[in-house]
Amino acid sequence: MLSRLSDEKISAAFRRAIREPGLLGEEDSAVIFYDLSYLKERIEDMIGLFPESALHAVAVKANPLTKILKQIKDLGAGAEAASLPELYLAEKAGFSSDKIVFDSPVKTVQEIEYALKAGIHINADSLQEIERIAVILNRISSQSTVGIRINPQVGTGSILSTSVAGEFSKFGVPIKTNREALTEIFLKYDWLCGVHLHIGSQGCEVGLIMKGIETVLIFVNEINRLLEKKKARRRIAIFDIGGGLPVSYHRDKEPVSMSQYKEELKYRFDQLFTDEFRLITEFGRYVHANTGWTASRVEYVKKEKSVTTVMIHVGADMFLRKCYRPDDWHHEITVADSCGNIKTGRDKNRYVIAGPLCFAGDMIAKETILPEIAEGDYIIIHDTGAYTLSMWSRYNSRQIPKVIGYYNDGEIFEILRERESLQTLWEFWN
Ligand SMILES: Cc1ncc(COP(=O)(O)O)c(C=O)c1O
Repeated sequence: MLSRLSDEKISAAFRRAIREPGLLGEEDSAVIFYDLSYLKERIEDMIGLFPESALHAVAVKANPLTKILKQIKDLGAGAEAASLPELYLAEKAGFSSDKIVFDSPVKTVQEIEYALKAGIHINADSLQEIERIAVILNRISSQSTVGIRINPQVGTGSILSTSVAGEFSKFGVPIKTNREALTEIFLKYDWLCGVHLHIGSQGCEVGLIMKGIETVLIFVNEINRLLEKKKARRRIAIFDIGGGLPVSYHRDKEPVSMSQYKEELKYRFDQLFTDEFRLITEFGRYVHANTGWTASRVEYVKKEKSVTTVMIHVGADMFLRKCYRPDDWHHEITVADSCGNIKTGRDKNRYVIAGPLCFAGDMIAKETILPEIAEGDYIIIHDTGAYTLSMWSRYNSRQIPKVIGYYNDGEIFEILRERESLQTLWEFWN
């Protein structure tokens, strides 16, 4: 399975979408597409690689579109919720409580109580939160299992802002200074039966993820030996390895596949694949990023001597990371004509692909070599399936584009979300 959708596959679906009666209107100046056949393939592949007992809680933050959440649920995966609203979305999409993991780093008493009453697995983010949970469990009964997020402090990856296992991180309990305190709570609270770690999202190589898992597993084995010695008749039985498997955003790079990742994991930590543990994974980017792409009509082409600026209908509203941290993030770009056919060649001018927002940094690509671009063409932005629409910014109050899912390269289309109406926008600000 190649990780990225090829230009040809995208163009085939786009041509069909353009021809499909009633699917795209004049107002659809930009459209977000998801290849749902490919999404299904990726999820099935992931589920098939791990033990049946593993829970694959797909990170809602990567892509909260409810129709996609429902597909994920129907395929047997779960949902990782990093906020109460994400938890609500997961419940509304039909995930049962045993398939949801509640991970917010800043849970209120009310939110914790809600999750405990619903029997949802909670990963506490701090020792303070464990104490809150203890107080709540003194007054209510719960079917929930509880874990604690540990920061294994194994270092940062190539993107600092998405690396969370450095010496300092706002997430989790740093292990180096809290080994004793962590040991204490595991001995003290019999409901505490899980550990959780997450190293970062994109930019963290597999070796770093493995180092994190190793650090936490060594600790877990220590605690389990201690519990056994104390004849506690309980042990840490839930091991949540988080997400963070990087994907490729580049034409010429193949990332580590889920199958290679799993093989490495199994080779190094076979114990995690036995019935000693229930494994939880929380992949988001790996599941979604390469399944989505976005097409925007070219509204204007502004030619100057050495550079041509192409004005399109998505920018920093949808691509926050790319526009605000351009050196850390990348999306490949393809040019298509108004019928969706790929344009080829190299214009002698360099191109800037600029978004519609009122600030100078609103650029998806700078100084890029592309085929000659004309008004009415389309700019196709690749690998937009994760952390793009979910990070939509309301600056300039632009309407969220229509979102279309498709199967079999566009044999079947399904509208996942209509283009946002002006009325809805009014209601948002009103
Ligand atoms: C706790 C947690 N789990 C899972 C994820 C998903 O990471 P990714 O989408 O890189 O797999 C994140 C992302 O930031 C996270 O913070």
